[in-house]
Amino acid sequence: MGSLTRFSVALALVCYSLLFLSANGDYTGGYDLVSISDYNDGKGLIAYLKVIDDKNTTFGASVEELRLSVRVETDERVRVRITDNRSDRWEIPEWVVQRGGVGSLSALSASPPRNAEKQGELPVGNSSLKFSYTSEPFGFAVSRPETGEVLFNTTPVSDMNGLVFKDQYLEITTQLPEEAVLYGLGESTRPDGLKLAHNRVYTLWATDIGSNIPDIDLYGTYPFYLAMRDGVAHGVLLMNSNGMDIVYGDTSLTYRVIGGVFDFYFFAGPTPLSIVDQYTQLVGRPAAMPYWSLGFHQSRYGYKSLAEVEEVVDRYAAAEIPLETMWSDIDYMDGYRDFTIDQTNYPEEKLRAFVKKLHDNYQKYVIILDPGIAIDESYPTYKRGVDLDIYIRNKYGDRYLAQVWPGPVNFPDFFHPNAEKFWTDEIVDFHKRVGFDGLWIDMNEAANFCTGPECVIDPDVLCPGEDYTICCLLCQAEKNVSRWDDPPYKINCIGKYREINGRTIAMSALHHGGIKEYDAHNLFGLTESIMTYSALKTLFPEKRPFLLSRSTFVGSGVVTAHWTGDNGATFADLAYSIVSCLNSGMFGVPMVGADICGFGGQTTEELCSRWIQVGAFYPFSRDHADINSRHQELYLWDSVAKVARTVLGLRYKLLPYYYTRMLEAHSTGAPIMRPLFFEFPSDTATLSINTQFLVGRGLLVSPVVAEGQETVNAYFPPGVWYSAFDPSKIIKVQGSSGEFHVLPAPVNTIQVHYRAGFIIPMQEPAMTTTLARKTPFTLLVIFGDGPEDSAAGELFLDYGEEREMRVMKEKSTFIKFTAKKSEGRGALLSTVTEGAFALSQHVMLHKITILGLPDIPSRVRMNGIWTKHPVSSNAEGSIDISELNLSLGKSFHLSWHYDQSGSAYVL
Ligand code: NOJ
Repeated sequence: MGSLTRFSVALALVCYSLLFLSANGDYTGGYDLVSISDYNDGKGLIAYLKVIDDKNTTFGASVEELRLSVRVETDERVRVRITDNRSDRWEIPEWVVQRGGVGSLSALSASPPRNAEKQGELPVGNSSLKFSYTSEPFGFAVSRPETGEVLFNTTPVSDMNGLVFKDQYLEITTQLPEEAVLYGLGESTRPDGLKLAHNRVYTLWATDIGSNIPDIDLYGTYPFYLAMRDGVAHGVLLMNSNGMDIVYGDTSLTYRVIGGVFDFYFFAGPTPLSIVDQYTQLVGRPAAMPYWSLGFHQSRYGYKSLAEVEEVVDRYAAAEIPLETMWSDIDYMDGYRDFTIDQTNYPEEKLRAFVKKLHDNYQKYVIILDPGIAIDESYPTYKRGVDLDIYIRNKYGDRYLAQVWPGPVNFPDFFHPNAEKFWTDEIVDFHKRVGFDGLWIDMNEAANFCTGPECVIDPDVLCPGEDYTICCLLCQAEKNVSRWDDPPYKINCIGKYREINGRTIAMSALHHGGIKEYDAHNLFGLTESIMTYSALKTLFPEKRPFLLSRSTFVGSGVVTAHWTGDNGATFADLAYSIVSCLNSGMFGVPMVGADICGFGGQTTEELCSRWIQVGAFYPFSRDHADINSRHQELYLWDSVAKVARTVLGLRYKLLPYYYTRMLEAHSTGAPIMRPLFFEFPSDTATLSINTQFLVGRGLLVSPVVAEGQETVNAYFPPGVWYSAFDPSKIIKVQGSSGEFHVLPAPVNTIQVHYRAGFIIPMQEPAMTTTLARKTPFTLLVIFGDGPEDSAAGELFLDYGEEREMRVMKEKSTFIKFTAKKSEGRGALLSTVTEGAFALSQHVMLHKITILGLPDIPSRVRMNGIWTKHPVSSNAEGSIDISELNLSLGKSFHLSWHYDQSGSAYVL
């Protein structure tokens, strides 16, 4: 990224933010609400707004008449949409982002308009949210009818602009209480931590730039925030794909959007998990990922030959570090062209044999694809694209010329009706040559190494030159600069370092049906993901696709996993990675991870140890590095290898737990990796815990993310917490708020804790997930240390890669575990739904380990019969009931007793 350093961007940002926040003082905008009608089903209203005064035309003329539609779509969701009443404007098509199956507004009938009152509200019925408005000038508020608390309030007050609605500039402001706590609005790297920071501009523009640079627009765009007030959550989504700045002042949040419409969805919560549930109910539930994708992945840009790749796989095996998936970056391609193979360094026959060997060892192979297709009439992929006419066009109707790794390229238009066929055929055909198991789609913001609508191939210049990333096209200044390429309002791209048009597809370029890149830019990655997902479904008709995308949008989780892009090999980046992954989970993309050990720059032994300690618990766990970075495979340092064996060993034991969390994510949107406040929303300290996280509800990870640090000051919310590596070490926090504890964390150690109240299903560690799945199960029952307590957990079992992930007869099994202890006895009960699958697969429970028992029970009863299973206390103070040999497919009832009376203990 040349001279663009963290420092210069930060400086530009600060200056810009200061300037920006004080600008526009004399500009008020504003509309009056003149008439109103009601939807006949009583669940909403339509109102008509007229511009008050349109003197200020800085960003163009105002749209004169607006239509406001308000719908109570569910008891927890209200939609507020404002658009031009006279002509259609750009809106995200529903095939790109779904809208919870609710039909379109125009299909609904409404009463004839009547004159507006000065103010009014929507009858609430059972709704947890209320919509109210004022007419002169127009403003609206969304509040909770029960408490009267106002969540979103655009009613104009002094010093605040009224509603502004121009063709290329839309502005709306909500007032916020000073103590507002907001999360979301991504994607960007957040040194401040999870909470959004006041007096910042959050710019939403898909950008190819290193995620090592904080506080700038990155690859994905999410106009969604989750807010916490007194332990209660609400959420706000603006369904708009245009570029925007969202300015967070002291007591306000202003959206400055350069197109589309205002289409807000308000979610009532009240818990953080219910917000993600309500949001993903609207935009789509996260994709089910194959079981194998939860294994450890190794990648690198710059594996020069297949021999090198083979050596990496062998060395992982020799070091006894589990390796599930080997990845190939663009190195495998011939001239960096998609669907080609470098026959010298990656000879095709050998590549096939390599993939076969991986598969024989139960390992997987994932390859990269970039969207830019090299322009060369003799390159069959390119030619087929031309024949199907699927390339994006420039404003003159020619194929839009850009440059990426292979040199001059055209970009497929994923809005084109033929694009699905093109992309699917290429992928299916290529799979015949290289039997990959999943795909990695990169550079899809879309990245372009040149800028502008008017680039041509320079016949005198070799393109690409020595540095592939330097523009080698001839890009003339635009003759008639279009209002798309140079819009009146400039969003804050990379802190004003770049124009909106910079190093991407020109804004005046056109997709099928006349869709302007200007409107659809932020959707490039999502539409490519949808098409790639569909291609993988065709390729593997029975299987669950695995797809990893860099650029994402609202709804991307439905089809893809995500990694946080080009981070740096620094401790700061390690810390940021936690916030970035937590944010992705909140955005509905729970399968997420950062490049372990760091992508750019030179990692160190210590950093790599620390990073694998964190990365072993990311939902998506992959080590990846840049071509200019030193090698950082985990076996390269003995110390790192040792740490990796320990932490990945725990991860692999926890795979059944992770996989069951995946089912939860897929069915309710719940992030796999969660911020502490998701579980402890009323404990205000959790609102700003940035470097610890929960996996599901029952596992707390508290890593060291700073150099040279040998202890960790970890926050423990109320409850009893057992060290995962040594359960005899217990932290007990009583009362309603948590405590910080300084714990030892030498460089080979990470603090991970189990939370009392949960039951965690585990298996044995192994070198691959396939082998781990063949090992017997242990149930870890985690009680608090008092005389009475209960615990619960679940386990989902299926083949691990069938298309559907849900409880299905003979194809999967769901088991609920509950346990209770009291003076003198305790019991564990399993309730099985669709046990046939587990029975057919001989899924066996071998051992139950119980934490929080005072002593070794004297007798154990299984399903009403006294048994002779060995009961012992292990070195860490937990109680093991072993040699169970119990089929998990059948419900069981186990009880333990401390006396000889032996009465059954029923839960
Ligand atoms: C950019 C991606 O972010 C990175 O992960 C990849 O290695 C390079 N492109 C090369 O393909």
